[in-house]
Amino acid sequence: MSKNKVNIAVFISGRGSNLKALIINSKKKKFNFKVALVISNNKDAKGLRHAKNNKIPSLIFENFDSKLIVNKIFKILKKKRVMLICLAGFMKILNPYFLNRFKKKIINIHPSLLPKFKGLNTHQRVLKAKEKYTGCSVHFVSKKVDDGKIILKKKLKIKKKDTIKTLERKVLKLEHEAYSKAIEKVISNF
Ligand code: GRF
Repeated sequence: MSKNKVNIAVFISGRGSNLKALIINSKKKKFNFKVALVISNNKDAKGLRHAKNNKIPSLIFENFDSKLIVNKIFKILKKKRVMLICLAGFMKILNPYFLNRFKKKIINIHPSLLPKFKGLNTHQRVLKAKEKYTGCSVHFVSKKVDDGKIILKKKLKIKKKDTIKTLERKVLKLEHEAYSKAIEKVISNF
């Protein structure tokens, strides 16, 4: 069944709930991608267990700034026929050398309605700014952090009672739907 699916690699650093959602969705008929590889910069990333549980190969690379390592990663991506890299809670900034090797084929998910609230602690800043809406965005990765062309956004209305915790939970749920949809949108243009 997965024979004709497009292979993707998911890069993580921690919990990996987006990775988990991508793996689950990739098994559904309506989605045309397959998680062929998981890469982490952190050997203790909890999310690595989702790769293990689903028999998806995973690799750890701590240094993404060495050209030697980047070349090694791309050799593996080529071998695995990976067509798209999906960053999901990947806490490393990829250097231009890396980005240029895989131009327009690296995407990221961010827990805010970009271009608003780039960077960390988004929910805290969204609440402080008394925003009416928040959500998540999937975008192409460019040289600037959380910049790059937006592929898809999903939004929700903020309630008076919302806290950082409730927003994190609600936005994460949206992320889990949005990421697969965004991937479909990207690969439909391949
Ligand atoms: C998500 O909120 C994602 O948008 C951000 O980091 C978080 C990662 O969560 N970039 P998880 O590791 O996928 O659970």
